[in-house]
Amino acid sequence: MKYDKTILITGGAGFIGSHVVRLMVTKYPNYRIVNFDKLTYAGNLKNLEDVENESNYTFVKGDICDRSKLKEVFEELEVTDVIHLAAESHVDRSIEGPMEFVMTNVVGTVNLLQQAKDSWTDGDHVFHHVSTDEVYGSLGDEGLFEETTAYDPRSPYSASKASSDHFVKAFYHTYGLPIKMSNCSNNYGSHHFPEKLIPLMINNIVHKKPLPVYGKGENIRDWLWVVDHASAIETIFHNGRIGESYNVGGLNEWTNIDLVKYLCQLMDRKLGREEGESEQLITYVKDRAGHDMRYAIDATKLENELNWRPSVTFEEGLELTVDWYLENAEWIEEITSGSYREYYESMYTNR
Ligand code: NAD
Ligand code: TYD
Repeated sequence: MKYDKTILITGGAGFIGSHVVRLMVTKYPNYRIVNFDKLTYAGNLKNLEDVENESNYTFVKGDICDRSKLKEVFEELEVTDVIHLAAESHVDRSIEGPMEFVMTNVVGTVNLLQQAKDSWTDGDHVFHHVSTDEVYGSLGDEGLFEETTAYDPRSPYSASKASSDHFVKAFYHTYGLPIKMSNCSNNYGSHHFPEKLIPLMINNIVHKKPLPVYGKGENIRDWLWVVDHASAIETIFHNGRIGESYNVGGLNEWTNIDLVKYLCQLMDRKLGREEGESEQLITYVKDRAGHDMRYAIDATKLENELNWRPSVTFEEGLELTVDWYLENAEWIEEITSGSYREYYESMYTNR
């Protein structure tokens, strides 16, 4: 079959990437979807078991830092578009070791940009770069991140993503590469690696382990269901303007401590535990170095220009997420049985 587009989705085996791949494979049989992923600790092909046999889906194991592999894939599969999600994504890991973040997030992104520029000499193409609101830095009590907010990254992770964003824009301005960009708030949902706040807390509540809240738990994050992020990417990829960036978020701010308490109440109900039982597991631990205080997104441009809206409330999305983890205990058990234990011990023992 001749496909209308061949879209290379990098990082398609990760948390958000697997949701984007699933959406694109099932909704667009006229597109060939190529999942290009290095399969780091965060990549898991089990996330895509339900679509792996679809005829318009192909998996290629590869590193975006490997230019010759990218060239081979672009030429052999005639890649027409890119949705770029591959990244090192965890702030705490970036504090322990920033270089891996520079390699994948900066060097890997520039490699991919160069390959797209060299391969796409004519025709219609889109290079959609998926980024984070953390590039804007940390907010005080007031205000929201807008697309025009000056970049002020403060963690090694956000510094590497900010750098990649600048390169993406530079390739648009300098070489005319047809880029689009999105900067999203914190995601939650199924298939989320349990190093991040929500899946880590769900897993620890299930196992009655301490719930490590950094500092006083007063830091604020703006949470969006991953399926809604995937639909925003789909919308921007198709209808966003070339050269533009779009903020993605759901106006849904929570302090970490309120969120953890809400999760405890929800899970006490689901697990048939006594009211208040899980909250007793909350343990305040040493704060993260350089911990950004507050993130909050203004997604008006995306809503007004492209008519995108989140499809669920936070309460609905969180319930769906908790149900998924309770119904898929083997998914998280497999992940947490190996090197995760070493990671967890080095990060949380005596913290
Ligand atoms: P993740 O860590 O769950 O997945 C990253 C994926 O990239 C994994 O499958 C991994 O194997 C792959 N990968 C890593 N290095 C690679 C390399 N060198 N070559 C090829 N593949 C490689 O991350 P995520 O949470 O799904 O985030 C995806 C993207 O969305 C990232 O760019 C991240 O910055 C961005 N983002 C994430 C959030 C969030 O809340 N998680 C919010 C906004 C933006
Ligand atoms: P995280 O999920 O790592 O996302 P990000 O740092 O990219 O926002 O963390 C979300 C918030 O939760 C952040 O303020 C740090 C805090 N946090 C904890 O309090 N305890 C934990 O064990 C983790 C992983 C995060």
